[in-house]
Amino acid sequence: MSSLSNKRIILGVTGGIAAYKSAELVRRLQDAGAEVRVVMTHAATEFVRPLTMQALSGHQIHTELLDSDAEAGMGHIELARWADLLLIAPASADFIANMVHGRADSLLATIYLATPAKVAVAPAMNQAMWAHPASMDNIATLRQRNVNVIGPDDGIQACGDTGPGRMEQPDTIVTTVGSLFANGLLAGKKVVVTAGPTREALDPVRYISNHSSGKMGYALAEAASEAGAQVILISGPVNLAIPPNCQLVSVLSAGELLEASLEAADGADIFIAAAAVADYRAKAIAAQKIKKQDAGMTIQLERNPDVVSTVAAANSALFVLGFAAETENVEAHARDKLKRKKLDAIIANDVSRDDVGFDTDNNEACWIDADSTKTFSKRSKTQLARDIIEHMVHRQSL
Ligand code: C5P
Repeated sequence: MSSLSNKRIILGVTGGIAAYKSAELVRRLQDAGAEVRVVMTHAATEFVRPLTMQALSGHQIHTELLDSDAEAGMGHIELARWADLLLIAPASADFIANMVHGRADSLLATIYLATPAKVAVAPAMNQAMWAHPASMDNIATLRQRNVNVIGPDDGIQACGDTGPGRMEQPDTIVTTVGSLFANGLLAGKKVVVTAGPTREALDPVRYISNHSSGKMGYALAEAASEAGAQVILISGPVNLAIPPNCQLVSVLSAGELLEASLEAADGADIFIAAAAVADYRAKAIAAQKIKKQDAGMTIQLERNPDVVSTVAAANSALFVLGFAAETENVEAHARDKLKRKKLDAIIANDVSRDDVGFDTDNNEACWIDADSTKTFSKRSKTQLARDIIEHMVHRQSL
């Protein structure tokens, strides 16, 4: 089930250069399973044509408050009632001020006043306008009224300034919106997730590692947190933002990962081992940079500890989910690992493909436990993570 399945979202677009991103936002929301209707202010139509939004959303665009045709179809009160969420992105400084004062001078403003739905805004404005006390006060007021404020992002702005004020990226908006419908499936549970590669030093400048991006592990940490769990994310070196509400423990080597995992797993309910742990480390780490020689070189390696099976053996009540990245006989190898490492379940995925698995945004996977198998067709790692969490709760009555 997608994160926004069966969710009805009114996307309110107000006037600002970021309005061009709302075209992509429509698609991303739909990809996540939402039904989207677009309401634009007049100023927004100066930046992006209603026809574009109509083609993308597949529905008539609503712009006019006093439009007898529109009112005969889905009028403003009906629209306001229809929605599960009113998402205003971009929300201009002017529109935010309008919301604070409860003005009903546009269709979108009227829907805001009339809707019983959740409301979220993704502000977009120049950094100085955002920093102005009037904007800060307005945002604080909206927060007090339980309006969810998403972003803004920090960076270079269309006007050439740099700072906070850019509309948050569509993908981040969709993830945040998904979390507004968070399910509480893991409320009160402590979840530990390992993610990313490990690095095994050879000398002060070189190491053995692998291509793991950490994306799957981070998506799982985020999904567990969305589901209400207390999450400890133990991560090797990756280039990813810490998911909201997760406690990050950074590690480098498998040895450090093991130590951090044993500590975090104490008192935890679930351990998810998504890290790609190096199987070997150098027998001795050279104190100085190893000099090249004309002849070849042999480096003595020794086995690393198996983190997930050590953690599983030390914590009998813990639910342990492992990962098996395979290039052939995926299911058979994964089932073998499930037994050998004494895991409760394992996610098998094929890393021989270019379009899924290592270092991509998508994944296709198979859940395997002692007496069942479930295949998850190709989808975003964010979505797959949510689906895995939901399936885990369902399978284990956690
Ligand atoms: O044996 P293999 O590396 O394929 O097993 C993968 C699973 O085992 C993953 O869940 C991975 O996080 C875990 N693992 C581990 N410690 C190792 C090697 C793998 O925890 N040294």
